[in-house]
Amino acid sequence: MPRVHPHYAVKANPNPQVLKTLIEEGAGFEIASVAELDFLLDLGQKAQDIYYSNPMKSREFVRYAAAKGVEWFVLDSVEELRKIFSVKPNAKLYLRIDTPNIGSDWPLSGKFGAHPAEVREIIKTAVELKADLAGVTFHVGSQCRNPQNWRVGIESALKVFQQMRVVGLNPRLLNIGGGYPVRHVKPIPSIEKIGEVVNEAIACVSDGIRIMAEPGRYLVSDAAYFVCRVVGTATRAGKRWMYWDAGVFGGIIETQEGLIYEVRTDRNGRLIPWVVAGPTCDSMDVLMRDHMLPEDVQEGDYIYIPNAGAYTSSYASNFNGFPLPGVIVI
Ligand SMILES: Cc1ncc(COP(=O)(O)O)c(C=O)c1O
Repeated sequence: MPRVHPHYAVKANPNPQVLKTLIEEGAGFEIASVAELDFLLDLGQKAQDIYYSNPMKSREFVRYAAAKGVEWFVLDSVEELRKIFSVKPNAKLYLRIDTPNIGSDWPLSGKFGAHPAEVREIIKTAVELKADLAGVTFHVGSQCRNPQNWRVGIESALKVFQQMRVVGLNPRLLNIGGGYPVRHVKPIPSIEKIGEVVNEAIACVSDGIRIMAEPGRYLVSDAAYFVCRVVGTATRAGKRWMYWDAGVFGGIIETQEGLIYEVRTDRNGRLIPWVVAGPTCDSMDVLMRDHMLPEDVQEGDYIYIPNAGAYTSSYASNFNGFPLPGVIVI
């Protein structure tokens, strides 16, 4: 996707080594909070290359980011438009529109994204305020296994550009968001296939429009293994359970939305269905049910999950007093 500038979604993995490498490679960034902004500024990244893509920001966060030199801010409501404009009247703004998340393992539509009637209202308000509403974005849903979602999102964005031009606005940013999938257990489309769909859909976009994407998972997932140990095993109502020393609260939280990780062990016994749980007392801390693993797994065994560099350590909490997983950079 030669026309598409990558802006890494820091939330996927804010480890300083990851950020430093991406800065060295010339990536831009997308942030959700001022803490993420500070990580980047501390590493010397220029504020102008950092886009504030969280559609709901506190007034204090907008003020802080503006003072640090961030120029581009997303919005998906009239209220957020007025909030950002009141703090920074010369902000460059981009509008997050609703788009189908069909076939994405981690849908993001519903919580964010303006629908057509709201889009009209936001454009009207921007004109009244003389705000610089200058771009459109969408998110196809994380771990998106349906490349057509990008085509639909781009086509919708270009229609919004038309609506903007008619009332005198000057759109110059097309942000095609994140969602590029990584391999776990289910089949995924290749990045080349997604690139074909994207390149075809943006072929008609004039050179004056900057096109960017916000990959998170895709850039960091295969950079890490998640390694933990078995605290103990048990039989409950005829089912075999194994408890790991890090579970949902230790960072393997995406299993809660149905993401199935590949799990490796050092055992080679017959495969049987296991229920896999974390070490906390919370009944939500169950990772997988009927997951086929060797029957001879025992207390103390190591567990290895490949492709676990995204949305793991950044999600982990100290719930129940368990330590955060350490990050060992090799
Ligand atoms: C605004 C925004 N951009 C980009 C991303 C990154 O998505 P992904 O990791 O699926 O590429 C997210 C993820 O939640 C997001 O909210």
